[in-house]
Amino acid sequence: MGYTRPVREIIKRRRSWRSYDARKIEDEKRKAIENFMTTLDKPFRGNRARFEFVDVGPPGKGRMKGTYGMIKGAGTFIVGAISKGPGDMEDFGYLFEQVILMATDLDLATCWMGLTFARGPLAEKIGLAPGETIPAVSPLGYPSDRRSLVDTIARASVRATRRKPWEYLFFNNDWFTPLRMDAAGQYQEPLEMVRLGPSATNKQPWRIVVQDNMFHFFLQRAAGYSKLTGGGVDLQRIDMGIAMCHFELTARELGLSGVWIEKKPDIPTVSKEREYVVTWHAS
Ligand SMILES: Cc1cc2nc3c(=O)[nH]c(=O)nc-3n(C[C@H](O)[C@H](O)[C@H](O)COP(=O)(O)O)c2cc1C
Repeated sequence: MGYTRPVREIIKRRRSWRSYDARKIEDEKRKAIENFMTTLDKPFRGNRARFEFVDVGPPGKGRMKGTYGMIKGAGTFIVGAISKGPGDMEDFGYLFEQVILMATDLDLATCWMGLTFARGPLAEKIGLAPGETIPAVSPLGYPSDRRSLVDTIARASVRATRRKPWEYLFFNNDWFTPLRMDAAGQYQEPLEMVRLGPSATNKQPWRIVVQDNMFHFFLQRAAGYSKLTGGGVDLQRIDMGIAMCHFELTARELGLSGVWIEKKPDIPTVSKEREYVVTWHAS
């Protein structure tokens, strides 16, 4: 079973929620997400991931202690684990975002939570294997009518509804020529869906250079951001995987074919913080 709505609609609908009410998640919805998880294709770099539901208490009650203390009332978390390897963070972002979009399609609320959960109660509950890490988790449930104060503050501090304009993110041939929307042709929507994606502290680190039928994805590291990585978890590489997910699902929905390849283009770099990640080869 896939999504019931067009993926573009689901991407626009998704918002991070940090306050949950007492409604229980219906068994059918849990089953639908579980089934969906088994249908996920192997990601580009071929790393294996697993996602598990962890019930932490009745929904609508209290906060969970620990790093995720700012999540109010969630009775259930989806915990994701991946075996460490090259491209593991991008693969994780790509896979987990598909699950998040499935939950969104079922009218459930979520919030990417990406600090290190490699230790602690959630890791214990899913029995983390040696060589595995938990890059992120998400609460799952029904959103409360009103956002909690902590949620409102969290959203304001990262300007959660804001996204950078096109000219900041997408380029034509080199780093000096912004890609105009009308020049993006059929790929306008896949690019727009990248732009609307979630990212850690809303840094929006994705930069894409278009050269003929190649879309080269780069990561623009936010200054000082390495502090928010640790234990093998690199939040901004997860963001890149989310971007790949939005781009590919939208392209496929529009009937645009292509494949991911690794083919670093020869573009003079303007910043050493800009790391090449992957290329979409449109066919
Ligand atoms: C990889 C990743 C990690 C995140 N980690 C956290 C987190 O630890 N705590 C939190 O409150 N929000 C976290 N977020 C949510 C972002 O702050 C949020 O996606 C962004 O501000 C945009 O808001 P929106 O999701 O409502 O569109 C994370 C998002 C991503 C993609």
